Amino acid sequence: MHADREPSTWITRFAPLVGPGAAVLDLACGGGRHTRFFLARGHPVTAVDVDTSGLEDLRQHPQLEIVQADLEHGAPWPLPGHRFGAVVVANYLWRPLFPPILQSIDEGGVLLYETFARGNEAYGRPTNPDFLLEPGELIEVVRGRLQVVAYEHGYVERPRPAVKQRLCAVRTDRPVPLCSSW
Ligand SMILES: C[S@@+](CC[C@H](N)C(=O)[O-])C[C@H]1O[C@@H](n2cnc3c(N)ncnc32)[C@H](O)[C@@H]1O
Repeated sequence: MHADREPSTWITRFAPLVGPGAAVLDLACGGGRHTRFFLARGHPVTAVDVDTSGLEDLRQHPQLEIVQADLEHGAPWPLPGHRFGAVVVANYLWRPLFPPILQSIDEGGVLLYETFARGNEAYGRPTNPDFLLEPGELIEVVRGRLQVVAYEHGYVERPRPAVKQRLCAVRTDRPVPLCSSW
């Protein structure tokens, strides 16, 4: 399988924190590598993208809701009032979406976010700061709202050399069970 089509190891690592059968939102889902991963784990998934053609083979899946929507250009949030047990965002950044993303996470729900970050300019696209997270930015976004379980910002070799920032955070005041295999 092409490395870009495999689910991110950051997402798969923390997937056990998503409650059994909890609804998952895959935002800017692309070809649906995380949609497919969570469907296979038995979660209902809402997959949103401006271009949903990469999900053609999944259209009849009973656990999948496909939402074709522009998330930018002043368009309204496509899922007002919806709450999820997990929101997954990978390789996508549009800062005005941070508030609705946070509002979409249910009590006990998980935010799994991984995208390109400052420093990536040296390795390739994106190079535009609008699409690169600043150091610590995802921690600031969730501060006082979600409990940070894990955060990283640094160079990755695979699937291609890049600088990425990654966050796993949970909407809870309780201690989050850490897995010894992490
Ligand atoms: C690099 S891909 C990441 C896809 C997927 N999250 C993954 O990690 O495999 C970025 C995705 O953002 C989507 N996207 C870009 N601009 C968008 C917009 N204005 N509204 C909704 N989706 C958008 C693209 O269609 C594309 O599928």
